[in-house]
This record gives sequence, C-alpha cells and structure tokens, in this order.
Amino acid sequence: MKHFINLKDIPSKDLRKIIVDAKQRKKQRKKLNILEPDKGSPLKGKMLVQMFEKASSRTRISFYLAIKQLGGGTLTLRSNELHLGQGGETIADTAKILSTYGDGFMLRTDDDKKIDDFQKHLTIPIINGLSPSSHPTQVLSDIFTVEEIKKKPISKLKICWIGDSNNVLDSLIAASVKFSFRLSIGCPKKFAPSNKVKDWVSKNKKKIFIYHDPKKAALDADVIFSDKVISLNDKVNKKRKKRHFQKFKIKKEIFNYAKKNCIFLHCLPRGDEVEEDVFLGKNSHVWQQALNRVHVQKSILLYCFGKLR
Ligand code: CP
Ligand code: NVA
Repeated sequence: MKHFINLKDIPSKDLRKIIVDAKQRKKQRKKLNILEPDKGSPLKGKMLVQMFEKASSRTRISFYLAIKQLGGGTLTLRSNELHLGQGGETIADTAKILSTYGDGFMLRTDDDKKIDDFQKHLTIPIINGLSPSSHPTQVLSDIFTVEEIKKKPISKLKICWIGDSNNVLDSLIAASVKFSFRLSIGCPKKFAPSNKVKDWVSKNKKKIFIYHDPKKAALDADVIFSDKVISLNDKVNKKRKKRHFQKFKIKKEIFNYAKKNCIFLHCLPRGDEVEEDVFLGKNSHVWQQALNRVHVQKSILLYCFGKLR
C-alpha cells in the first residue's frame, strides 16, 4: 500500500511514473465528457473519502472529478461533522471506520501529526491534500504543467519562487531535489525557509538558492511561481507580514529579468501578492494549472491504489 504524504519521501522514479501516466491519460480522454470514465474504469467501485479541516475549492473538486473519471466515487466530509472533529472519538477509531467503508482517504489538515496518526491506524492509503508542511498533490501537478507548457523536462529549466516560505514552497523544494531542477527563491529575510528545510536541502546538495531581492531570484527564470502571503489559518500579524512582502509583489517589470517566454504559475486562491495584469496576463497559465490537478491526481490515486500502469 502506497501513501502520498510528502514528495521528499516518494522515490523520484515513482513521481516520474505518475507524471508519465497523467500525460497519457490526459491525451487519451480528449474527446470524453467531464464525467465519462477513462477506458477500462480502472478504479471501478472504489471510494475515496475526503476530509477537509480547512477550506478548499480546487482540491475538493479535482479529486471528485479524478476518481469519477477512473470509475469510482467520493464522499466529502467536514471534520466538524464527525465525532472525531468534536472530540468524541479517537483518530484510531475513526481510521478503522474509514478503512472499513472506504478504499482511500484524502485529508486536508492544519496538523501534520494528524496525518501521521491516521497513517498509523489506516489500512487504506492516505493522501495529503495540504498540511502546514506540504502541498504535494499541487506541486506534482505543477511539475506536469511546467513540462506540458515548456515541452522540456523540468531539470532543464530554471524555476523561481517569489513569495512566502510556506507549504507549497516546501513541496517545491522537495520537488527540486527529486526532479533535479534549479530553484531560486525570492523572499524577505524574516520569511525564509526554516532551518529544518535548509538542512534537508544541504544534505541533499541540490540546486536551491535563496535571495532577498526578487529581481535576483527572477534572473533568467523560465517559470515564476507565487502564492498567497497569508496562508489559510496563518496565525501571524497579517498587516506586519504583508509589509515585509511589499517589494516582493509580482509586477510586469519582474519579467524583464526572466527569460523571454517565462511563464507565471499560482496555485490559487490569490491575494495581493500579484498584480491583476500579471495574474490575467499573457505569461500566466493559472487556469491550465488548476485543470491539470484533475489529471495528475488521477495518476496519484492509481499509484496509491496499486494500479499505476
Ligand atoms: N490550490 C488549492 O489547493 O486550492 P484549494 O485550496 O481551493 O483546494
Ligand atoms: N499556501 C496556501 C496554499 C493554498 C492552496 C495555504 O496553505 O493556504
């Protein structure tokens, strides 16, 4: 049984297999309607339970479509509707029940330990649908999008992140090690990646550079990524944090430092870290990026269910 919790714990060859499968599946279902299953319905009769402790639009809907297109179905829960969410049941008991009723479990949570605890007690695979330390399904899908648009392996590209050192960046850092691409990070000193993340990077001796000047980070970039300065349930002083990020706001001018055909990606939802004319401009591929979540998550589900081609 394979879980999908953190990119750094998944072998590179498995991550690459997921991307290859997603590419083939996306191509093969071009003529199908959105709810029509892929040929052979590989997850026919299977049920994915998804539980959200935080808001979600894309992850929720894309997992619904993903399992549906594989021939299965989903049940979506809010934790506060369960005994677990109200403190009336242990994770161990809930995990046993989920393993009895479902075939896979996707969890979005504010607490990484909860994912570990569920993993211990589940007999079905668990997928991390965003936690404080990681957003692995998003970032694997983003690698797919970059390669789809650039028509090159990501290892041949220069990737830039301008923004907060958050869960999405942590997964992008892990991806940089797994897929061996150059990653330049532009962030304020006070909001740089944690020492734990930096230690992991230096142990893995990879191509990751941190700048406190967005122009330096964007130099020669093929892709510029960003994300909200204030993440869901971020407990900081929001006004103060936003002040630190003022000179990191993505404006059209930043693309003068990047490569000519540099693209802009953002996982959404967005805040004021990016100007409207960049977000909706010609370099931006954010809608294609969002749609690709469906395609890549299908192959993640197949990986977890032991059915990857
Ligand atoms: N990008 C992303 O995960 O969006 P949601 O929060 O809407 O799921
Ligand atoms: N970093 C953001 C990502 C949202 C998809 C958050 O955690 O809220």
